[in-house]
Amino acid sequence: MEPTLRWVGDAQGHLALVDQTLLPSRQLVLEHRDLAGVIDSIKRLAVRGAPAIGVAAGFAVVIGVRERAPADAAAFQRVLDEVVDIVSAARPTAVNLAWAAERLRERGRREPTLDALLDEARAIHDEDVELCRAMGEVGADLIKPGFRVLTHCNAGRLATGGDGTALAVMFAAHARGTPFKVFADETRPLLQGSRLTALELSEAGIEVDVIVDSAAAGLIARGEVDLILTGADRVAANGDAANKVGTYGLSLAAKEHGVPMYIVAPASTFDLSVASGAEIPIEDRDPEEVLSILGHRIAAPGVGARNPAFDVTPAGHLAGLVTDRGLIHPITTERIKATLG
Ligand code: MRU
Repeated sequence: MEPTLRWVGDAQGHLALVDQTLLPSRQLVLEHRDLAGVIDSIKRLAVRGAPAIGVAAGFAVVIGVRERAPADAAAFQRVLDEVVDIVSAARPTAVNLAWAAERLRERGRREPTLDALLDEARAIHDEDVELCRAMGEVGADLIKPGFRVLTHCNAGRLATGGDGTALAVMFAAHARGTPFKVFADETRPLLQGSRLTALELSEAGIEVDVIVDSAAAGLIARGEVDLILTGADRVAANGDAANKVGTYGLSLAAKEHGVPMYIVAPASTFDLSVASGAEIPIEDRDPEEVLSILGHRIAAPGVGARNPAFDVTPAGHLAGLVTDRGLIHPITTERIKATLG
């Protein structure tokens, strides 16, 4: 498979990304040279997953500043502010987007050149590869031989610049020779589980069964799930975590039936400026995504729909947080702050 996203060339180059809306049936690489194109790809989920849109955000700032061709240092700062604001607003829930754009703003303040911006964007990408590797190592021992692991949405190579978050843990356990199988929630409405997670796991040689989202609670209740691992789009200072809609429901079933559930997230996904999950903005998406499947209308004309893309899992429902800097277990604000520095 092509890399999820990569920068090609020098500061006059372009951002190449796999259009995830077409997977697994088609592998199309989009080449972005203008800001509107990158923003469109982020909004329609051609590139998606919190760390991956953070990486894309860095390159988007390079492209946006370049196309506005600021004539002097004052214009550079003005344009940089404008572009950072546009990029940060592309999607509201994943904090990685604004976090990465702000890093570019700070770098551009100190060093107002396109080369410096590109250097920072590349650093964010390189760091993400390392964060994924570290999360895999920290979490791999949670998967014991014979475990049946359930996951939701896609928290893998397609959602990050590296090996993933929750899936990096699975890849690391697999590399250590631990035998286990995975249940992948299909993840309506956009099917990131059946289209993307199942693809990644099967390509890696990890046994995976796709289940409809509504089957998860029943399997958990029947004792057919040993561990739940998901990613997150934003983790608050108290450990509450926003992730793909349906994650909260999984956590309720996990708590009721004593199945350990961990969120796997890098430091870049933590937002210590929000005290709890109640302050995390939840993206509402086009109702048409619910009324259709893969562009095919299934509901009758005139029917309405609600389409919250994320929900918040309270820290109290989680056994712990797997981060690149270690396992946080049990979850307290103090432990989170101590682990993340
Ligand atoms: O709407 P998406 O597909 O961008 O949502 C992605 C998720 O919810 C992932 O679980 C999350 O970003 C963690 S990714 C490593």
